[in-house]
Amino acid sequence: MMNKKSSFLVSLIVLSIVLVGYTTQNDYFKISKEDVELKIPKTFPKPLYRFKNNKLSPEIFVLGRKLFYDPILSKDSTTSCASCHQRIAAFGHIDHALSHGINGLIGKRNVPALQNLIWKDDFMWDGGVNHLEVQPISPITNPVEMNETLTNIILKLSANINYKSDFKNAYGDTIINSERILKALTQFTGLMISANSKYDKYLDGTDTFTTDEKKGLQLFRNKCANCHTEPLFTDNTFRNNGLKPDTILKDKGRGAITGIEEDNYKFKVPSLRNIAITYPYMHDGRYRKLSDVLNFYSSQNFDRQAAHEVYDIGKLSADDQKYLIAFLQTLTDKTFIYDKRFIDPFMK
Ligand code: HEC
Ligand code: HEC
Repeated sequence: MMNKKSSFLVSLIVLSIVLVGYTTQNDYFKISKEDVELKIPKTFPKPLYRFKNNKLSPEIFVLGRKLFYDPILSKDSTTSCASCHQRIAAFGHIDHALSHGINGLIGKRNVPALQNLIWKDDFMWDGGVNHLEVQPISPITNPVEMNETLTNIILKLSANINYKSDFKNAYGDTIINSERILKALTQFTGLMISANSKYDKYLDGTDTFTTDEKKGLQLFRNKCANCHTEPLFTDNTFRNNGLKPDTILKDKGRGAITGIEEDNYKFKVPSLRNIAITYPYMHDGRYRKLSDVLNFYSSQNFDRQAAHEVYDIGKLSADDQKYLIAFLQTLTDKTFIYDKRFIDPFMK
């Protein structure tokens, strides 16, 4: 039998274990001033979005992170940004070709990875959105994505006591408005910077490439880099890479935005950073594997008529494909995917 004193001691020990556990767990989700410092990778150009009117702070970032992971932003509270943009897939989606939104409704495009967004001045596969801060309005209001309105989100957040204090921490008072919601989301997505892959380390001399990887880089520079330009692996233009238009989706891409016939079937050149983990590929997710993509480029399925661009990759031999894939795999950035700043805070 335990006496009073020892049972008190036992409770004290249990209590301190729980407390220590609780604080370390909370520390895990803590964001410091350093965490939200904007560090521009050495090889990257100047960013296009510079947080000038959206000063980075740990509290605003934390609010943005919570909003990103919270299904409250959708009509029936089932779908969050993260339902489609999954961290393990560099914030793309690896389950299916076309995005799945509210009520299981299927969109018409493949979910792109989210990374290095502050180096972009147009978004979406067709460039239909041209500012990072207004970008979330599109999925929020899209009937097959989150099917919600900002007005209603403001009502829902205002009725939530936790969000009231989150906004107060972030902005100094409890006012909840669209601008604050959008800017907070932008702090979170804008800091998703991927620049620490094996390729980056090879460039700065802190890692080495195998012979296959070196050959792949050489091939890539000869055949792919005029569109997928280093270091961002996109030249930020819209191109037709020769894919045969999908007859069911009838997606005209850039042409539907500009109304210019020449722009039909052009899509934003996607970055190839983290490409090995962001399958399926292309705006409609038609290819599941990198080898499918290379077979396509190697002319089997190549629609020369559709490709307005004059470019010819030529036949890629089995060896060429092996080298290219070895190289593309060096673009996976584990530091980015496992960066604890981006982990779902609801896991607490
Ligand atoms: C139902 C799935 C879905 C949800 C939910 C969703 N997205 Fe997306 N997201 C997509 C798809 C699909 C695209 C590409 C759309 C297109 O090209 O038309 C996209 C594109 C983007 C882009 C542009 C990326 C680029 O490089 O051009 C950003 C940024 C983005 N989403 C952020 C968000 C944020 C923030 C939220 C939450 C407010 C969100 N998304 C919710 C599916 C989703
Ligand atoms: C003429 C410009 C151009 C060239 C050259 C080019 N690409 Fe592309 N690439 C694109 C465009 C545009 C897309 C998106 C097409 C779409 O979805 O409709 C794309 C898509 C891709 C994708 C899918 C990316 C994703 O996120 O879904 C991969 C992988 C890829 N290219 C690899 C390569 C490789 C490897 C080479 C060289 C062998 C190459 N590309 C050469 C323009 C180009």
